[in-house]
Amino acid sequence: MNILMICLGNICRSPMAEGVLKHYLQNLNIDHLHHVDSCGFEPCHLGEKPHYKAINVAQKHGVDISNQRQRLFKVEDFDVFDKIFVMDNGNYNSVRSFARSMEDMQKVDFLYNIVKPKQNIIVPDPWGGTEADFEHSFEMIDQACKILANNLKINSL
Ligand code: 4NP
Repeated sequence: MNILMICLGNICRSPMAEGVLKHYLQNLNIDHLHHVDSCGFEPCHLGEKPHYKAINVAQKHGVDISNQRQRLFKVEDFDVFDKIFVMDNGNYNSVRSFARSMEDMQKVDFLYNIVKPKQNIIVPDPWGGTEADFEHSFEMIDQACKILANNLKINSL
C-alpha cells in the first residue's frame, strides 16, 4: 500500500506522521511492503528539514525524521498513492480541490478518523506553538499510526 500524509506546511505534522508510520511498519517487519511519504501546500519551506520542535519530539519517542525534506502536493500523487491522510479541514479541501475523479476523492480521509471513525477530528497545527503543542499533535498522530500499522499487518497475513 502507498500512503501519503499531508498537512499545510509539511514541516510539522505530516513529517511526524510519515516517520511514526514508517517506525511502526519497521517494528512489525512489514516496511518493505509499503511506501510512505508526506507533503504539503505551503511553499515557503520548500526543501527544508522538518521544524526542529517536530524533530525533537519525534526523537524523544525514538523516531528520526531529520532526513525528510519538504515537498509540495502534486496531482500525480493521486496516481501513486492508495490512501491520502490529512490533518485538518484546510488540507482536506486543498487535496480534494485537485481530485479528478470520485476515485481520487475517495482516497482522502482525516488521519484521526482511524482512531475515531467519521468524526473528522483534526490534528491541530503546532507551528508557532510550544513543545507541549507539538507533543499533543504527536500523540494524536501516534495513536492513528499505531492502529494503521496494525491494520496493515493483519491485511498482509
Ligand atoms: P504543518 O505546520 O502544516 O503541521 O507543517 C505548518 C508549518 C508551516 C506553515 C504552516 C503550517 N507555514 O505557513 O509556513
